[in-house]
Amino acid sequence: MLRNVKWIIVVSVLAITFVANATAGEVEVLHWWTSGGEAAAVQELQKMLQNEGHTWRDFAVAGGAGANAMTALKSRAVSGNPPTAAQVKGPQIQEWAALGVLTNLDDVAQAENWDKLVPGVVADIMKYEGHWVAVPVNVHRINWLWCNPAVFQKAGAQYPKTWDEFFAACEKIQKAGLIPVGFGGQAWQEATAWESIVAGVGGTDFYKKTLIQADEQALASDTMVKALDIFKRIKPYTDRNAPGRDWNLATTMVIKGEAAMQFMGDWAKGEFTAAGKLPGKDYDALTVPGTADAFLFNVDSFIMFEVKDPAAKAAQKAMARLILSPDFQVAFNVSKGSIPVRAGIAETPFDAVAIASMKDFEATAKSGGLMPSMAHEMAVSPAVRGAMFDVITNFYNSDMSAADAAQKLADAVREAKM
Ligand code: GAL
Repeated sequence: MLRNVKWIIVVSVLAITFVANATAGEVEVLHWWTSGGEAAAVQELQKMLQNEGHTWRDFAVAGGAGANAMTALKSRAVSGNPPTAAQVKGPQIQEWAALGVLTNLDDVAQAENWDKLVPGVVADIMKYEGHWVAVPVNVHRINWLWCNPAVFQKAGAQYPKTWDEFFAACEKIQKAGLIPVGFGGQAWQEATAWESIVAGVGGTDFYKKTLIQADEQALASDTMVKALDIFKRIKPYTDRNAPGRDWNLATTMVIKGEAAMQFMGDWAKGEFTAAGKLPGKDYDALTVPGTADAFLFNVDSFIMFEVKDPAAKAAQKAMARLILSPDFQVAFNVSKGSIPVRAGIAETPFDAVAIASMKDFEATAKSGGLMPSMAHEMAVSPAVRGAMFDVITNFYNSDMSAADAAQKLADAVREAKM
C-alpha cells in the first residue's frame, strides 16, 4: 500500500514537472528601470517569473521617463521583431493596440478578476475597445518635494508650505553654502517640476484646464504666467552642473546632504530606500507647496506583443498574472516607491510616505484632486505633450519671459492639436 502511494507521488511529481517545463517559455522585457531603486524593483518580477520556470531576457534601455526605451521599441517593432513585453504607458498603449500587434489579455483579466481589483480610472488606460491590452504595475505620485532634514537644520531653514516659504528656505540654504534644489536639467524633469507647480499655483481646476484639457485660453492666462515665473525662480537655487543631470543623481545629492530638496515623483523614494535611508529620519516627503489636496498620478504598465510560440505565450500570461498578484504588488512597490495599483493590499510593510499616499489616492479620487500627470504620459496626446515639453525647456533654458512662454504654450498646443 505504502509503496503504491510512493509511486503515485513520484508519477505525479514527474507529471507536474513535465507540464511545467512544457509551458516554460522566455519573455524578453523592454523597460527603463536602471537606477538602484528601479532595478531592485524590476528584479522582483524577474525572480517570480523564474520561480515559475520561465526565462527572463532583460532588455533595459537607460534614460529617465523612457524616451530612449520608446525609440528602441519602435526600431525593434519596425524591423518586425518586437520584444515579448514592453513598459509602455498612457495613450501610447492605445496607439500600439490600434496597430493590432498586442496580445489580448482578457482571459488573464477574467481569471484574476482585474475588473474588480483595478480602479476604473486606471483600467480605462489599460483597455483598448473594451479589451485588456496592458497590465498596470503601480501608482506613482508626482507632486512630491524630497527633503533632507539635516540640510534644513544646518541652514536654520523651515520646511515650506507656501511658495514664499519655499523661496525663503532656498535663500537660507544657499547662504549656508548648500544647494537648495538638486535638479536634473532634462526636458522631462523640467516638465515634472513645472506640472506640480502649475497644480500648486493654479489649483486642481486650473491643472485640469491646462494640462488635461490643454485649453489654449487657460494656457495663455495670467495664472499660467505666475506658475511659469515661480518655475523659473527656482533656477538660481540649482547648481551649475544641473543641465543634463540624471534624476537619480539629483536624488543622490539630497541623500548625501549636498542638496536640500528635489522635485520628483516617488520613484525618488526607491533611491532613498536602496540607500538604506528611512522617511521621517533621514529624509522627508512634502507635497509641493499648494498641492496637499492634489494627487498627480502616473501608472506604469506593460503591453505584450502577439507571439505564436505557445511557451512564449504561457510566459507572457504568467507575467501578466504575476504583476497583479498581491505578493508582487508588495515586493515591487516597496522597492519602487510607488503604491499598489490593485485593491486589497495591506498597509504593512509599506512606509509612512506610501501609507499617506494610499490614503491620499482614495481621498483625492473622491474630491476630484486625483489627476493624471501630463509629464508622465497620462493626460494628453504624445503630440501635445511634446509641444508642451518644447516650450517649457526653451523657456527654462533661455531668457524668454514668462508672458511670452505662456503665449507660446497656447500657440504650440493649438498647432499640435491640428
Ligand atoms: C517614469 C516612470 C517611473 C520612473 C521614472 C524615471 O516615467 O513612470 O516608473 O521610472 O520615469 O525613470
